[in-house]
Amino acid sequence: MNRKPSIFVTRRLPDPAMAILAEHCTVSLWDNAEIPIPRDELLRGVAEAEGLLCLITDRIDAEVIAAAPRLRAVSIMAVGYDNIDREALAARGITLTNTPDVLTETTADLAWALLLAAARRVVEGHKLIERGGWGPWHPLQMVGQDIYGRVLGVVGAGRIGQAVLRRGRGFGMRLLYHNRRPNPALEAELGATYRSLNDLLAESDAVIVTAPLTAETRGMFGAAQFALMKPTSIFVNVARGPLVREDELVAALRAGRPWAAGLDVFEREPIGPDHPLLTLPNVVLTPHIGSASVATRVRMATLAAENLVAVLSGKPTPHVVR
Ligand code: GLV
Repeated sequence: MNRKPSIFVTRRLPDPAMAILAEHCTVSLWDNAEIPIPRDELLRGVAEAEGLLCLITDRIDAEVIAAAPRLRAVSIMAVGYDNIDREALAARGITLTNTPDVLTETTADLAWALLLAAARRVVEGHKLIERGGWGPWHPLQMVGQDIYGRVLGVVGAGRIGQAVLRRGRGFGMRLLYHNRRPNPALEAELGATYRSLNDLLAESDAVIVTAPLTAETRGMFGAAQFALMKPTSIFVNVARGPLVREDELVAALRAGRPWAAGLDVFEREPIGPDHPLLTLPNVVLTPHIGSASVATRVRMATLAAENLVAVLSGKPTPHVVR
């Protein structure tokens, strides 16, 4: 019988994923579903590991790789992998896999929820009622911005961005997108039009960010970009916080351009109740829950487990990050 490879798992995952791992591997884990593994435990945990299953909360850098001399495979339960030093992995020939596709529609749904909530002041309305502030109905009470029939601009038209654009079609919107380069197939399928970032910001009523965090995209939204947006526009970020210069977004929202924002991701997570964004009425914030539906999180965990088992046993998986 073949020896089972040793793996280290940085969090207790849903049972179906743990079962797959236990069947094929000798598993060590940080046995906590909620609290991220402390750094020293991570460095100790990987010492014997041939495989590592990690999350977006784990910084997998050269120090971790050096502490794991037997490591052959890293599987992240996420689509984004900006927390992983890919050069350090490549230098050792370690394979990285992620969990794309299974979270696309769930994340696009959250982008849409934030867009509608920010445009129609859903959370502000809830808070008004909660504090007993709902007086008589009046014509301009809690008026917001329309989304139906307006212009949607998606920055980063990968899988999630395309799913967001499809939702825009259902809302009768004119569709714009910005990417590193134009995508004729996407234009043919969705009738979306490529724009430079500046033109997209100036023309869109709703801007939704779904681009990955890279050296190129870090800090791409700051005062200069917000100044280009319409004073009625809504800004939504479901990608990664560091794409946005948060202090400049706070100043822009305070000045009313963009009109409102819906944010699921932040420069440094988690944020606390003293965060400057929470002083603003025109924001809707969620705690990095883009992919957080029951079915999707279980599917991501099982896919991350399947990916790790496949790489360690020399089987093909389509989810190798190249
Ligand atoms: C979550 O942020 C992910 O990248 O899957």
